Amino acid sequence: AVAAAAVMAGQTGLVQAEGACDPGEVVIKFSHVTNTDKHPKGIAAELLAKRVNEEMNGKACMQVYPNSSLYNDDKVLEAMLSGDVQLAAPSLSKFEKFTKKFRLFDLPFLFKDIDAVDRFQNSADGQKLKESMSRRGLTGLSFWHNGMKQLSANKPLIKPEDAKGLKFRVQASDVLVAQFEQLGANPQKMAFSEVYGALQTGTIDGCENPWSNIYGQKFFEVQDGITETNHGVLDYLVVTSTEWLKGLKPDVREQFLKILGEVTTERNAAVKKVDEENRQKVADTGTVIRTLTDAQRQAWVDAMKPVWKKFEGDIGADLMEAAQKANK
Ligand code: LMR
Repeated sequence: AVAAAAVMAGQTGLVQAEGACDPGEVVIKFSHVTNTDKHPKGIAAELLAKRVNEEMNGKACMQVYPNSSLYNDDKVLEAMLSGDVQLAAPSLSKFEKFTKKFRLFDLPFLFKDIDAVDRFQNSADGQKLKESMSRRGLTGLSFWHNGMKQLSANKPLIKPEDAKGLKFRVQASDVLVAQFEQLGANPQKMAFSEVYGALQTGTIDGCENPWSNIYGQKFFEVQDGITETNHGVLDYLVVTSTEWLKGLKPDVREQFLKILGEVTTERNAAVKKVDEENRQKVADTGTVIRTLTDAQRQAWVDAMKPVWKKFEGDIGADLMEAAQKANK
């Protein structure tokens, strides 16, 4: 079913994709919300599909549905539990309904960079988090990196007070809501696919995104520059249904997980380059990128940090400490 490696972008494609799997092959539908080209998740998903379709031909067949063409992140995990999709890689902020532990990753200024995130995720504490939704029927398979988040709005953001009164789009995460409330701003939870339009029409004023999302969704077109805050992380968990995974033949499961592990290692190792390239592409459009002095950045830390205390009960002080150790 090598033909099924083709990426499906819409309803017409969807029908085509279904026809492309051979009878007897395990169909693995992978639904995600970003673009495919030059995006960390898009690249990794395509590489995974390519390898599964080539190396597991006759046994398994993967179809990738990017750009929220099948489900947005609000729906995808429910769809997984009902067997409509087998794989997804929502950002860690999207697991709120399934585990409060993942709130850790949304704490502002917790990880100093993506290397620290990587060290923590690969620690025993980080790996254990992949199992934290098993009661709810989901198994975390691999963490995939994107990058650190930057702030933007329809006016320059230099001081925390600049964000006051502005409406910011947030992912479906109460930590991110609290982070913007801490600034006196108005956070609004919204699906990723709606953000560009909402910025354009002024329904919202600003947002927070890693460089690959800023470039991939062209948010720079409808924002007054980007402030390089690196204030939080946007990473992913490749997730599947526990029941589906258990139901696979052992050799199919083993081969699939081996390929996923290799794709994860390869693409996570390359992610800083992708992040940097997308930052450069944003800069090349003439978009103003505002960097902060240490003192200016510290003011954002001071403004946002009280959020940590609010969620310590959900996350656990031990886990928060373990994560901080990864900053070295
Ligand atoms: C978002 O909703 O902003 C991100 O989770 C989208 C993504 O998958 O990168």
